[in-house]
This record gives sequence, structure tokens and C-alpha cells, in this order.
Amino acid sequence: MSDTLAALLPSVEDVMGVLRGVIDPELGSDIVTLGMARGATVNHDGLVEVKVALTTSGCPLRAQIQRDVRSRVGNLPGVTKVKIHWGELTQQEKAAAMAKARFNASQNAPDTAVPATTKVVMVASGKGGVGKSSITVNLAAELARRGMRIGVLDADIWGYSVPRMLGIEGRLSGVEGEKKIVPNEKQMGDGVLEVVSMGFLVDKEETALMWRGLILNRAVQHFLEDVRWGQLDYLLIDMPPGTGDVQMGIAKMLPQAEMVVVTTPARSAQKVATRVASMGRSNYLRIAGVIENMSEFVDPQGNSYAIFGSGGGQELADELGVPLWGQVPIDSSVATGGDEGSPAVLEPGSGPAAAALRVITSCLLEEIPKIDMAGCTARILEAANEALASLTISSS
Ligand SMILES: Nc1ncnc2c1ncn2[C@@H]1O[C@H](COP(=O)(O)OP(=O)(O)O)[C@@H](O)[C@H]1O
Ligand SMILES: [Mg+2]
Repeated sequence: MSDTLAALLPSVEDVMGVLRGVIDPELGSDIVTLGMARGATVNHDGLVEVKVALTTSGCPLRAQIQRDVRSRVGNLPGVTKVKIHWGELTQQEKAAAMAKARFNASQNAPDTAVPATTKVVMVASGKGGVGKSSITVNLAAELARRGMRIGVLDADIWGYSVPRMLGIEGRLSGVEGEKKIVPNEKQMGDGVLEVVSMGFLVDKEETALMWRGLILNRAVQHFLEDVRWGQLDYLLIDMPPGTGDVQMGIAKMLPQAEMVVVTTPARSAQKVATRVASMGRSNYLRIAGVIENMSEFVDPQGNSYAIFGSGGGQELADELGVPLWGQVPIDSSVATGGDEGSPAVLEPGSGPAAAALRVITSCLLEEIPKIDMAGCTARILEAANEALASLTISSS
């Protein structure tokens, strides 16, 4: 094998790193912490074998975990194939995993208050102005319209625009007797949006700037730790542009997050976008796809104009080895929808951008399927807690 090929292969440590992003939704912790990921082998030909032991072999979440392991490990550069060897935790290991999960859930309170059954999608970009916020709110609105409960975290602290784009106002309220923030809610179609933004905490953008340095760099952390999110199906995070501290912080706090990168068709935009993706990867986040925004403008006569160039999205996707979810054309409905607080995707029969955004939403649902807890009513953690209690008694 050539040295260059070896250099491309991930280490076992890298594999275990990405496995920390695989959460057992029932136990609410990642499979490495829980001792369910028992080891990995990286073969010369790029085949990675992973040993995963489940609480019960008939675990209804097996498909979910399988998909997650496959996509995350398969996303590592150099991996050609992923093979999972399934096993079952012994009674004792199961008890240990439960104890760990229980411990995490209590004292060592997990770093975030995001439900373990929530899929987290970071919408990132190399630079500002590419339409990241517009894409975020449209995807959120469309997902909610389809009947889901969707959280939107506006992590662009200084450049927040989500409240205006979604037409949501009002201060965030707290939970009585608890230091918790309750997101602002908005019914949308059959679903609900839960939104948190710096814009709900300050009166004017100037105030946000004044706060700078005092609490702002901790604001996102608060948003993740101290927000009482509901049982969200998805949490979309509108990231600040680039690769700063906020990005690193979120990546560390939410190892289960997946990233979608928004770029313009300009080839020059590709380099900065690639940097964002590699920041994600070095934090073991999965890059789930690329969205190209401000693609060709099509006039009513059907002539198209590549105002911002063409091909950038596909090129970036190819470079990252991930799918291009779609291309959103330049369309005034996106801008006016954003100004009026009514995302373009919600307007019936609206233009080409809305159509593209709906297709992209379906892509998201396919690439990052929502967790289906049906059949998981066994309340495994409680059952195991009882088992553990009796174990402790009988062994003493
Ligand atoms: N596909 C599009 N067609 C037309 N205007 C768009 C499109 N996408 C974004 N815009 C406009 O471009 C500007 C920047 O978009 P925004 O979503 O705020 O970018 P970012 O969050 O990346 O800084 C906004 O005024 C927005 O309305
Ligand atoms: Mg923005």
C-alpha cells in the first residue's frame, strides 16, 4: 500500500471520535460513553469494521443506530466501506450502561438540554450573505408545515435575522423557579416552530453590540444549556459565518449534530466553504450535504442567467464527497418573504425558489431521517434502573 493511501485512512481514534456522535435515543447518551461501541478496525482497503453491542438484539432502534454509524463512519475521508458487527451487552454491561446513562442524565447533566431524540442540523457557510438564514428559516417552516415540531436556534449572535424572517417577536420568557428560557413558539401548518434568538433578548441590535464581550460569547452556550426545548423532531441551527469559537463550541456540545453547508455558485466561494466543512470534520461532525443558493436566475421567458457564476455547489459537494441537496435560484420571493416574516416556501404556488426549497426539505428528511420512537415504549431506562436496584440489593 502506498503511503499516501495510508495517510488518507482515518485512525481508530477518528472512528471512535465520530461514533461519539451516535446517540442511543432511548438512553440519551452516545454509544461510546455507554460502552456499546466496542471497538473498530481500519483495514488497508478503507473498509472499517465497527463492533456495536445493543441493549437487546431486537432493539427497535437498531436501524437508527445502524444508519448513524454507517453515515458517520462512511463520511470519514478514505473510508470505502463500513461493516458493523452486532453484539448484545451482557447483563452486567447493560447495568453499567444504564448507570452511566442515569448518571449523565442527573449529576453530570449533559452539556445540552436538546432532547436525545432530536436531530440537530447545523446550517453553516464560509461567509455571510450567502443566504444561510434564508435557507434555515425556509427549511424550518417547511418541516413544521409538514407536521413536525422544529426548533430554530439563531446562533448568529451579532447578525441575527431569524426573528424578522419568521415574523416572530417578543421577549423570551423564563420558567418559574428555574433558570430556564422558554423559546418563542409559532404554529405553522400542522406543526410548531420553537425559536430562540439574541433578537428576543435585546431591544435593538445596538444593544447586542453593547453587550459584546460581557455575555455574548456565552450566549450560545446558554441557548443550548438553558433552553427548555420541547420534544423537537429537528433543531436547525443558523450558524454564524466562518469558523470561529462559536462553531467550535457548538460542535463540542452537540456531537450528534450534522452539518449542511450553504454556498453560492461562485467557484471562489468554494474555498471558504471547504474550510467550514473541515472544521466540522475535525470536530467529528458529519457533513450531510451541500446547498447551493443564488443559483441561476430564470426570467419569465425562461432565459437563465448565471449571475453569481455556476458549478460551485456541485464542485464543493464532490470535493467533500457528499450529495448536493439542491440549487435555490435567485428569486425575489425569498427576499420579500424574509422581509415580511413569511418564508417563501409557505406561499402557495410561489416561484422556483420555493419549489427548490421543498425538494431540499425532502432531501434533508431522507439524509437525516427523524428518529422514530414507535415501538420503544418499553421505557428501557426505567426498567433497567429497577433491575439495577435489585442487582445492588442482591449482591450486597
Ligand atoms: N435565493 C435567493 N434569492 C433572492 N434573494 C436571496 C436568496 N437567498 C437569500 N437572498 C437575500 O440575500 C440576502 C442575504 O441572505 P441571508 O439569508 O441573510 O444570508 P446569510 O444568513 O448567509 O448572511 C438577504 O437579503 C436575502 O433576502
Ligand atoms: Mg444570517
